[in-house]
Amino acid sequence: MRPRARCLDRTGPAMIDFQFSRSDFPEGFLFSAATSAYQIEGHAFGGAGRTHWDSFAETPGKVDRGETGAIACDHFHRWKEDLDLIRDAGLDAYRFSTSWARVMPDGVNINPEGLDFYDRLVDGMLARGIRPMATLYHWELPEVLGNAGGWTIRDIPERFADFAAVIAERLGDRLHSVAPVNEPFCVSWLSHHEGYHAPGLTGLGPAAKSMHHVGLAHGLAVQALRAQGVGNVGAACNFEYALPATDSVEDRATATIYDGIYNRWFPGAMIRGEYPQDVLDGLAEHMPDNWQDDMKIISQPLDWFGVNYYTCQRIRATGAAWPGVGSVPGPLPKTDMGWEICPEGLAWLVTRLARDITGDLPLFITENGLANPDTPLRPDAERVAYLDAHLAVACDLIESGVPLTGYTFWSLLDNYEWTLGYAKRFGLVHVDFETQTRTPKASYHALARALAR
Ligand code: NOJ
Repeated sequence: MRPRARCLDRTGPAMIDFQFSRSDFPEGFLFSAATSAYQIEGHAFGGAGRTHWDSFAETPGKVDRGETGAIACDHFHRWKEDLDLIRDAGLDAYRFSTSWARVMPDGVNINPEGLDFYDRLVDGMLARGIRPMATLYHWELPEVLGNAGGWTIRDIPERFADFAAVIAERLGDRLHSVAPVNEPFCVSWLSHHEGYHAPGLTGLGPAAKSMHHVGLAHGLAVQALRAQGVGNVGAACNFEYALPATDSVEDRATATIYDGIYNRWFPGAMIRGEYPQDVLDGLAEHMPDNWQDDMKIISQPLDWFGVNYYTCQRIRATGAAWPGVGSVPGPLPKTDMGWEICPEGLAWLVTRLARDITGDLPLFITENGLANPDTPLRPDAERVAYLDAHLAVACDLIESGVPLTGYTFWSLLDNYEWTLGYAKRFGLVHVDFETQTRTPKASYHALARALAR
């Protein structure tokens, strides 16, 4: 008798599969996976300068277990293996970021080793048929610039434009696309009002100033990129579906403000050159002098607009000083981050974004994904179900006429999840942080099958 074929062996975990296929999407729709420099590279290597995340993480109580990006996924040494994983999944593009402090350790002078690293990385992508989607700033500011005042001072956007010019000159001829700043909301509000990310400030003054300067940095960087002939320049903003916790007038009004701070401030400024009036009412007295003069720079014409989306939020009015935002847990199933799984929020937000702000501008989902607990067998069905539900929304959006041109999985690898350290795992590929062994999860294999059909 012939031995039983391996595929009939039912002793292993059941095979899981995506419902979506590449052929559900229009020709030319791009599938990408994302990471970011500080979260994967290993910042201790290659002459990178200290960043404000290093000092933040060293401050007791700020980051779980005090973990930093010093080693992370050691991608600085293992990038070839990681690019092979992207290629073997059948992905079309890789959204990565360039660390300012690696390229310019003091924020000003160039570290050739750092620039060489990204040069090799981009060539490595092209050699494997992967389109490089660069993000210039994914949250780690050279510490020297942070100590000088960081995003609360006007000098930082100017320095950032110089960094953009350095990247443009060295890599610009080979990049598929560029977004200057990842999630400006997180760089500004989350870090300067909520104190949740570096530098950990909590006040309307630093919040308003950083919310303006990060937008200005975006605009100045777009100008610097264009000046060097770099095309396909866009933005990557994050969105959260804001729902009132109850039907009370107060909760509804507060949810609208939260929606404005989170979902309307940066897109409005970058595309229309206007801040939403309801948010400006609360921030006006804290804005930098003559901010109005910068709106033209902030609203440089873009080639595409990126949407990072994960969850919804149930907003309640706290009654505290403006904006008085609180939240309560919602009823939907949650990821390991405690985030509700709410694909309809993606549909609602992208539909409104296109209708009210971006119009015909091509859109790109620049991040979407789920963290789940690390289990030895990694059946990973939750990740597949989460991604499938959001990809179904992407498909519906295209059918309803929204100009959506691509989708990005967060993340290729388990990595450094900022204040939560290494405990939250978003990867399609498991990383053992002791040995740095990469093990593709069931979702990775399922993705390779879906992209091949
Ligand atoms: C958004 C950020 O861009 C990324 O750095 C982070 O890891 C994921 N969301 C998950 O929180």
